Amino acid sequence: MRGRRPWAYRRFVYQLIDPVQSMTSSLLISSGTLVSSAGLRRADILIEGEHIAEVRDAASGARSPTPGDRVLDASGLLVFPGLIDVHTHLRQPGGEHKEDFYTGTCAALAGGVTTVLVMPNTSPPLVDGATFNHAMRLAEQNAVCDFGLFLGATQTNASVKSQDASLRECGLKLYMGSSTGDLLVEDFAAQYAHFERYPRDRVIAVHAEHEPAVRYFAGRGLRRPPICAEIEVSRAVAMAAQCNRRLHVCHVSTRREVEIIAAAKARGVPVTCEFTPHHLFLSRQRCQDRQRRAAALDLPPACFEMNPPLRDQEDVEALWAHLHVADCIATDHAPHTLEEKRSANPPMGVPGLETMLPLLLTAVHEGKLRLEDIARLCCEGPARIYKIAGKGTIAPGFDADLTLVDPSAEWVIGDVPLFTKCNWTPFAGWPVRGAVQRVLVRGRRVFDAGRVTVERGFGRPARN
Ligand code: DOR
Ligand code: ZN
Ligand code: ZN
Repeated sequence: MRGRRPWAYRRFVYQLIDPVQSMTSSLLISSGTLVSSAGLRRADILIEGEHIAEVRDAASGARSPTPGDRVLDASGLLVFPGLIDVHTHLRQPGGEHKEDFYTGTCAALAGGVTTVLVMPNTSPPLVDGATFNHAMRLAEQNAVCDFGLFLGATQTNASVKSQDASLRECGLKLYMGSSTGDLLVEDFAAQYAHFERYPRDRVIAVHAEHEPAVRYFAGRGLRRPPICAEIEVSRAVAMAAQCNRRLHVCHVSTRREVEIIAAAKARGVPVTCEFTPHHLFLSRQRCQDRQRRAAALDLPPACFEMNPPLRDQEDVEALWAHLHVADCIATDHAPHTLEEKRSANPPMGVPGLETMLPLLLTAVHEGKLRLEDIARLCCEGPARIYKIAGKGTIAPGFDADLTLVDPSAEWVIGDVPLFTKCNWTPFAGWPVRGAVQRVLVRGRRVFDAGRVTVERGFGRPARN
């Protein structure tokens, strides 16, 4: 973390009194309501270059700026640290007809997300130095927000990291159960090899569904019932405990998984977990209800299908009741084209980058969680889990990644054009309250009033 610079305060005052200084790259975001897990405060943020230089409580009486200062009046707006989404599928390389680094990161900015961690189940998958570094170059050339890429685990590449320490992956993704793509590590020995060999200080993120159970139930006409996730989360926790490795459980969707993870945490196992917006806001029952409405919007049933699948209302309520067990909320943004979703054998997954924050803000309005929880789950938590340097918090020395939200704007999802290439959302037709108005990444205005205002390739690898 960059330290606080001693001249920051002097610079802050100087900025306000000398209009000539306004020609530098300083920017003052004034009178916004800053959101953190600790609470809300009205404050001014001074940005110098790419970083936050100073945060001053509005109550401490900042001078009013002189004409010519670069000032952004944020009164009436909420100011979040730029959101960090630790689970996205941006499909490049090989799936560019569904999404690419440019369209996916444009969708991120529209959703107030300033850093994305991207999954390796591409074609080819990112499983060695050559495939990984190629994807890294594509991201550097095309992304408009900051990013990290996961390395994919295979049956045979448990030594990939020890053989190539120069890889700059944000973590290892281990598909313990099958999903889109062919990254599957099903048997114990191959799974355990990864837990034994991946560096202790880095995160192994798992898709935990027990493949033999998935197959068994599929043969009986049942799609991935909760027991599939329960079995594999237990196995993952046992391996992480045995090998003392950092485990992150992706898309927790059932009460039993929550109980297993909470118990593991209580006995000191280094485990974290994420909940997704679709498992929080949709259920099997609710989905049917939505489908009726969505019929008007012409969405096929597969637009509500993903791995792990939507659960019964009882599990959904358990997730809401145990939000404190979640370390973050992540979208599992998994775009597929409508044509693919209408096909006989549709791929699993739904997009989510543009809808997570509006849905959560609406839930705040409905009293289901607090603004502070959004900061914990979408900003601070993700940065903590993946040790992302300089992000997730509004404080001097941090990157000036900020998401400005109009909390009272009312709109309907689907009425505003989407940036995701797949161009549909399972939340079409949902009335929401709260809209992303402006987004900054490293001090640069990158999204403003519905438009992306930065060039392709602005995004940089996040440091972790
Ligand atoms: O529904 C899903 N879609 N679950 C996954 O695990 C993968 C994802 C995808 O890549 O399409
Ligand atoms: Zn998954
Ligand atoms: Zn996923």
